[in-house]
Amino acid sequence: MLLHTTTTTSLSLRSSHRLTKYALQPPNAAVSSQTPASAAHSISDTDLASRGFGLRSSADGLDLGHLNSVFAAVGFPRRDPDKIRIALENTDEILWIEYEKTKRPVAFARATGDGVFNAIIWDVVVDPSFQGIGLGKAVMERLVTELLRKGITNIALYSEPRVLGFYRPLGFVADPDGIRGMVYSRKQKKKK
Ligand SMILES: CC(C)(COP(=O)(O)OP(=O)(O)OC[C@H]1O[C@@H](n2cnc3c(N)ncnc32)[C@H](O)[C@@H]1OP(=O)(O)O)[C@@H](O)C(=O)NCCC(=O)NCCS
Repeated sequence: MLLHTTTTTSLSLRSSHRLTKYALQPPNAAVSSQTPASAAHSISDTDLASRGFGLRSSADGLDLGHLNSVFAAVGFPRRDPDKIRIALENTDEILWIEYEKTKRPVAFARATGDGVFNAIIWDVVVDPSFQGIGLGKAVMERLVTELLRKGITNIALYSEPRVLGFYRPLGFVADPDGIRGMVYSRKQKKKK
C-alpha cells in the first residue's frame, strides 16, 4: 500500500516528532488559495480538450460496459456491471476522461473514504491505446488535488510493483516512517 506524502501530517497527530518533521509541508500546499489548482497539473484542462479529451468528475454519462472493457484490456477482472454501479454510488471522488470522438472512457480513477480524513484510491486505469500520453497522470493529479482541497490528507492506494514508479512522482511513498499496510487474507486466517 502506498501513502500520499501529505498523509504524514495526519499521522503526525500521534507523534510530535513527525509534526516537526513535516510541518514545512502543510496539507493543502498543493492547492493554496494563491494558486489555481490547475496550475499544479502537468496537462491543463484546455490542452486535454484541444486533444479531444473531456474531463469528467461524476459517473453521469459513464458507460459501465465500456469501463469494464478498459478494466479487461489492462488485465483487471471483468466485473458485474450492477456491482460496479453500486461501487460508484459509494465512491466519494471519481475522475475519468472521455475521448470525445468515440464517447468512450479512456482513463479512470476513483477514491472512497470518509469524506474528511481518509481516502483510498482504486481502479486507476488507462486504455492501452491511450497509455503513455499523460492521461494516467492527468486523472491522478486531479483526484489528489480534489481530495486535498477537501482537507483529506490521508490518501492511500495499493500498487502493483511494476507501477510504483508511476505513483512515486505523484507524491506517494511506500511504508512512510515504517508504517506498513496490511490486508485481510482468508488464506492466512485458515492457517491459524
Ligand atoms: C499505470 C497507468 C495508469 C499509467 O497511465 P499512463 O497514462 O500510461 O501514464 P502517463 O502517460 O500519465 O505517465 C505519467 C508518467 O509516469 C510514467 N509511467 C507510466 N507508467 C509507468 C510505470 N508502470 N512505471 C514507471 N513509470 C511509469 C511515465 O513515463 C510518465 O513519466 P513523465 O511524467 O516523466 O513523462 C497505465 O499504464 C495503466 O492503466 N496500466 C494498467 C493498469 C494498472 O496497472 N493500473 C495501476 C494498478 S496499481
